[in-house]
Amino acid sequence: MKRTFGWIAAAAVALAGIGGLGDASAEAKEFRLGLITPPPHIWTKAAEAFGEELSKETDGAHSVAVFPSRQLGNEAQMMQLLQSGALDMAFLTIAEVSNRVPNFGAFYAPYMVDDIEQAGALLKSDVALDLLKPLPREIGVVGIGYGMAGLRQIVSRDPVDTAADLAGKKLRITPFEPIRDFYTALGAAPTPMPLPEVYDALANGQVDAIDMDLELIWKLKYSEHAETILISDHMMFPMVGLVSARVWGGLSEDERATISRLMKKHLDGVIDSYIALEPKFLEEVEKTGKPVKKVGPEFFGDAAAEWEKIWSEKAAVLDDMRAAADKL
Ligand code: BEZ
Repeated sequence: MKRTFGWIAAAAVALAGIGGLGDASAEAKEFRLGLITPPPHIWTKAAEAFGEELSKETDGAHSVAVFPSRQLGNEAQMMQLLQSGALDMAFLTIAEVSNRVPNFGAFYAPYMVDDIEQAGALLKSDVALDLLKPLPREIGVVGIGYGMAGLRQIVSRDPVDTAADLAGKKLRITPFEPIRDFYTALGAAPTPMPLPEVYDALANGQVDAIDMDLELIWKLKYSEHAETILISDHMMFPMVGLVSARVWGGLSEDERATISRLMKKHLDGVIDSYIALEPKFLEEVEKTGKPVKKVGPEFFGDAAAEWEKIWSEKAAVLDDMRAAADKL
């Protein structure tokens, strides 16, 4: 615990140097926005575009300094900074939110949606947006809207024909509970690992397989170490745009409205980009010449049903979300 607070204190001092800690008020000129993705990633570009538009609309009164690549810490650490008001804004995978608010686990229901268009529509739906409303009270952050990365796929160092080939295999996951439960139900050994460590771990055999999206399988060259790429589309991967509730409390109604509108616009743009680009990402992965195998829900046997048993208890919203998804 001591170490955590020590880390927050250090980050707070660093941030104070950058933009004025404690200056979270209507006078704040430069908001700080953190994310884990690298500079060329779609999420990072959207954060920068949001900042540019905010600056333009406010005639330079407000701007956004974007800190990519975990410069301000991992997602758990950034969440703590948001809660304390030491960080103004972040684009985070909803993994970190779902670790604290189990209802968000519902987004990870295996095969909740049939394709990426449905994923985008669900994330823009009322049932999804309503989930953001209690966040200020529950975890001290304001949720503005969702983005996403592509649907999830599996890259394996060894050939995979059936799910039995993944049994007992160390399979990298993003660190959050719903995905851990899915791969445990499948009989694999889910291995939580943040994004920057994945390439080396796959290359040197520290893990046998990884759970990943098509864009990064291609751009970060995970395919180089693949003997099978399973195009399974088994899960959504939402992102959420957050503002510190403490910082939000110090903003005027006008400022809140402008920030909400512009951030939501760029988050929606992230969703639209993945919908437009997913076919290209698949084409590029296929061009690597590595064995690509398309599989559906049947590949995973009972794992989805097992997952449902666990998460229908934990995520009260699961039925409503599935009903909304079924109507898409
Ligand atoms: C991942 O952990 O796999 C991930 C995180 C952020 C964006 C895309 C992928």
